[in-house]
Amino acid sequence: MQINKPYSESCDQNKEPILEVIQPLFKDIKSALEVGSGTGQHAVYFAEKMPHLMWQTSDQQPYHDGINRWLADAKLPNTPAPIALNVSSDSWPKQNYDAVFSANAVHIMAWENVVDFFENAPKLLSSGGLFILYGPFNYHQQYTSESNARFDVWLKQRDPQSAIRDFEALDKLANNAGMKIKEDYALPANNRILVWEKL
Ligand SMILES: C[S@@+](CC[C@H](N)C(=O)[O-])C[C@H]1O[C@@H](n2cnc3c(N)ncnc32)[C@H](O)[C@@H]1O
Repeated sequence: MQINKPYSESCDQNKEPILEVIQPLFKDIKSALEVGSGTGQHAVYFAEKMPHLMWQTSDQQPYHDGINRWLADAKLPNTPAPIALNVSSDSWPKQNYDAVFSANAVHIMAWENVVDFFENAPKLLSSGGLFILYGPFNYHQQYTSESNARFDVWLKQRDPQSAIRDFEALDKLANNAGMKIKEDYALPANNRILVWEKL
């Protein structure tokens, strides 16, 4: 039976380039927590391509129906049911993960949520654990492209608390939480993958 699922065009376009970067990084890990799983499309794609690890989805409750539909359709053995998680809440899982991954979320959430995200996520990582963000980022408060500048205007019109985040500000939060930048990859459409390692 065909299950009716939410669909994101951008997820479909960026899932392969993201996988190319994270697959080698996740070669030896056993578990990843995804924050802000959205539709659930990334989860199903990454979990199928990396069957050696458990891919734990999470998001705010309204997203769970869609995520569950993608998981139910894919029937993968390594995608447990989503966790209800707002990064600023105390509903963070009590267990450890080898990596925390999040795509296109830190420019959506308010800055105070970003601060909480960077404070809480590393608590789930052991030394050597990875904290990975995908999305558009600024450097020294400069856009990396005209299209990102336009996107930022659109974001702020939609929600004044949203904004493309500055790498240096995120890196400061990461350092305060005991993490060090490990890699910064350029991805298509002026996006990046930032990888921090827990010390
Ligand atoms: C643009 S969507 C990205 C979804 C998906 N990761 C993707 O790449 O298509 C932003 C996501 O951030 C999540 N988000 C926003 N604020 C959040 C918060 N305070 N805590 C947890 N997730 C949050 C939203 O629920 C949503 O799933």
